[in-house]
Amino acid sequence: MIVTTSALFKLAYGQYAVGAYNINNMEQALGLFQGHLDAQAPFIVQISKGSRKYAGIPMIEAIIRAAENMFPDAIYAVHLDHGDEKTCYDCIDSGFYSSVMIDASHEPFEGNIATTRRIVERAHARGLSVEAELGQLGGVEEDIKVDEKNARLTNPNEATDFVKRSGCDSLAVAIGTSHGAYKFKGHQSLHFDVIEAIQKLLPGFPLVMHGSSSVPVEEVRRINAAGGKLDPSACGVDENEFARAASMGVTKVNIDTDGRLVWTRVHRENFRDFPETFDFRKPGEIFVKEYAAFIVHKSQKLGSAGRLSAVRKALS
Ligand code: G3H
Ligand code: 13P
Ligand code: ZN
Repeated sequence: MIVTTSALFKLAYGQYAVGAYNINNMEQALGLFQGHLDAQAPFIVQISKGSRKYAGIPMIEAIIRAAENMFPDAIYAVHLDHGDEKTCYDCIDSGFYSSVMIDASHEPFEGNIATTRRIVERAHARGLSVEAELGQLGGVEEDIKVDEKNARLTNPNEATDFVKRSGCDSLAVAIGTSHGAYKFKGHQSLHFDVIEAIQKLLPGFPLVMHGSSSVPVEEVRRINAAGGKLDPSACGVDENEFARAASMGVTKVNIDTDGRLVWTRVHRENFRDFPETFDFRKPGEIFVKEYAAFIVHKSQKLGSAGRLSAVRKALS
């Protein structure tokens, strides 16, 4: 059942975070839906501009509709990830999406507000909610000067002003994470001080954490042992910090890179161990199973596991 993103956020806020996963193909969809049923967790399916281009818009939407038929008990929202203005309008008008993200974080503050406001007006008129972004996503090294650190992370006062004036429904905040496999040098914690300050100023308002993959050392090691050449210093977010972040208003946690690592590990190991084979369905089947198990694990860390019956009751 496709539900609104705002309904999921209302139920989750302060208690757990909803996992938001990017999909690009059939195998990811099968593992994603199966894993969330196994975990009994609600979730968000994310489609990026890259995915719309790779699979084709009709194909990626058809994959999700087919998964809906195959997994009728799943409860999820469909979200555009990192949209520009035009893609947001396309998705709003398509009638398929629950919510869109307008990523105008590269614009100056006033420009970001104005762009987000335009999307919000069109989205709200069609019953969709809008995620916006404020701050510069990026790992902040420990030895960086305080002023520079603060300049990169989301400023809590600006966040309050931004939310009030743009009318957005959730906000992606810069709290030390970044996209991809190389987030930090050494172990780093989320900037809980920033999350806490934002939550104090915006109580009850859902925050979004991008760049939330944990990039497990063991996954990187196995990929490299099977012929990969990932930098072994690859490092991500400590997934044991999800629960604390969720209790402070982080309601949506975006994960993509970790799923790509599962895909890469499964396929590299399979082709290494069975070099004489060429039936892509063999590694494909293993990937679906492994990805479903990965989703169960993430749902436990996010606190979303076991919530499905309460969500169903509240939404029906
Ligand atoms: O944050 C971006 C997501 O990982 C999606 O990546 O734009 O390559 O589809 P993509
Ligand atoms: P990762 O690269 O850490 O998986 O982040 C994904 C993301 O933020 C998608 O919007
Ligand atoms: Zn992102």
